[in-house]
Amino acid sequence: ESTLGAAAAQSGRYFGTAIAAGRLGDSAYTTIANREFNMVTAENEMKIDATEPNRGQFNFTNGDRVYNWAVQNGKRVRGHTLAWHSQQPGWMQALSGSSLRQAMIDHINGVMNHYKGKIYAWDVVNEAYADSGGGRRDSNLQRTGNDWIEVAFRTARAADPAAKLCYNDYNIDNWTWAKTQGVYNMVRDFKARGVPIDCVGLQSHFNSNSPYNSNYRTTIQSFAALGVDVQITELDIQGGSATTYANVVNDCLAVPRCTGITVWGVRDTDSWLGSGAAPLLFDGNGNKKPAYTSVLNALNGG
Ligand code: G3I
Repeated sequence: ESTLGAAAAQSGRYFGTAIAAGRLGDSAYTTIANREFNMVTAENEMKIDATEPNRGQFNFTNGDRVYNWAVQNGKRVRGHTLAWHSQQPGWMQALSGSSLRQAMIDHINGVMNHYKGKIYAWDVVNEAYADSGGGRRDSNLQRTGNDWIEVAFRTARAADPAAKLCYNDYNIDNWTWAKTQGVYNMVRDFKARGVPIDCVGLQSHFNSNSPYNSNYRTTIQSFAALGVDVQITELDIQGGSATTYANVVNDCLAVPRCTGITVWGVRDTDSWLGSGAAPLLFDGNGNKKPAYTSVLNALNGG
């Protein structure tokens, strides 16, 4: 196959990208995105600050722009993200305790109800673990009680039973890291107690401080063995090594429950890291980089 999405589909997987509503008027961008990818994540437009700028007043203008572009072009959509310490609107940042807990529940219900039946998988909770030590990150949500994550997942299941429900985080790619083990233990506990969780999102932002490690395949296999899907949700590799990109793809392909890969942007100039990082599959002129070819070849089984 000659595109990423079609090549991934040969094994029943998807290949996605983050899409920014503000770039949908750029035809060079949309041409590549439409041709290559069959899953879309809104880069910012479905986040808490975007969708509920004032408490109880939801705004889906930009989220719907991304959603409609995707669906009109035959793509599925991942939802990102419902409960997160970051990109909270000011009114939410000012809340605590039971009122914050209720606001979280109301937010999940409001957004999931709008997109009910339309989203392949939601990142219900994003980045709840601390960068070191293996425990929870301190945040206003965490201070509402340790059960906030399972409350978010139970709320989400009731709001849209058709969506897969994911826990999504960065630096949980290296199996030996305490953060990975912390998330693994949470997922194992959720499965044991019947807390509804369907998938783990490995963001997979690889750079010199958190490089790709060959134990990545062990991480994917270990989460999958708990009975959840694994999705690579925000892949980018600083420097854009073609070899590392191929390794990531091959590690996903080696695990049946690794169901898809999303890169976090289309061209290097679209990356949150800035184009100097050259972390994506297309250069700023829209040309395919060596990493593109190595990903396509890996997806095609070679
Ligand atoms: O839209 C405003 C614009 O109106 C304003 O003039 C400008 C001035 O700073 O800011 C614009 O918003 C920025 C937004 O991106 C859209 O470009 C925000 O400042 C900026 O903080 C925001 O960054 C996003 C970041 O999440 C915020 O946490 C990145 O685009 C986005 O790629 C990044 O994505 C995250 C995932 O959601 C979670 N995992 C990590 C990943 C990378 O940080």
